[in-house]
Amino acid sequence: MKNCRFGVFGFPVSHSLSPAMHTAAFNALGMTDCEYKAYAVEPENLKEAILKAQAEGFGGLNLTIPLKEKIFETDLIIPDAFAEKAGAVNTLTFKDGRIYGYNTDAAGAFAALEEAGCQTDGKKILIVGAGGASKSISLFFAERGNSVKIINRTAEKAQRLADEIAEKTGNSNVSGSGFESGWNDLKEADIIIQTTELGMGKYEDVSLFDKLPLLKTEQKEEMIRSCVSKKTVFDIVYNPEETTFLKESKAAGAETMNGMMMLVFQGALAFEIWTGKKPDIGVMRKAVSDALLKKD
Ligand code: ATR
Repeated sequence: MKNCRFGVFGFPVSHSLSPAMHTAAFNALGMTDCEYKAYAVEPENLKEAILKAQAEGFGGLNLTIPLKEKIFETDLIIPDAFAEKAGAVNTLTFKDGRIYGYNTDAAGAFAALEEAGCQTDGKKILIVGAGGASKSISLFFAERGNSVKIINRTAEKAQRLADEIAEKTGNSNVSGSGFESGWNDLKEADIIIQTTELGMGKYEDVSLFDKLPLLKTEQKEEMIRSCVSKKTVFDIVYNPEETTFLKESKAAGAETMNGMMMLVFQGALAFEIWTGKKPDIGVMRKAVSDALLKKD
């Protein structure tokens, strides 16, 4: 067993790419005494598992589905201001007998956009979905003062989330609705971020564009072109590498990006919190894309 232990807790977690990504980052920095492994932890065992990791001298942990929100029920952690507002934690550190919680997901999404050359300042952001991923990304951009529109299959959920974020951030340019005015919302946005599971798993062949209502006189491809052409369209899904939504957006002239670099940057930010060192982003990216190739 190595001296310096890290890992990800989740359930299920065997599919996680984080062990490959962090192991590559440790190796590249010559930190051969560090290890990072995936641990299957059921929600009801979360508190016990974290206390055990603390007692065993872990340096830090990542939390993934379904534990990011669950952690607040344990009363174990001191969350930072953003994680507290987001109601979700993906990174834990152990320091002087205390456990601190952070959320690097949204900052990871932001870093991925910046790396892709997408300027976000003052831009109108459209977020598709109102689940956990949407919540932290919407909150992040609302805090930065962007205009944020959230659209979701279940309209009330988008409205509730938007109200909550507007209240927490004091940004009155945050609103939510269902998909009924979706084409218009796409047209008004500068940057579009897709956070739902459309395009993956059982929804692999389904695109957001199939969910938006068309009039008899309207044709889908033309609507897509007029709504997303020349805009940045970001789908946080990374497996498959290119969702139908991204393919259709790219064909219509949008700048597209998938969620791989968001995964890499949220991991890199966690790595920095734990070690104080900047990991090699290129090494982490290669580890993730190699691991994805092996899965196929
Ligand atoms: P996550 O934490 O990954 O964001 P989540 O909290 O379960 O996951 O949220 C899932 C999101 O995907 C929700 O916005 C959900 O829409 P609803 O609120 O209407 O359920 C969206 N979603 C899931 N399946 C969908 C589908 N078939 N069509 C449209 N949206 C879907």
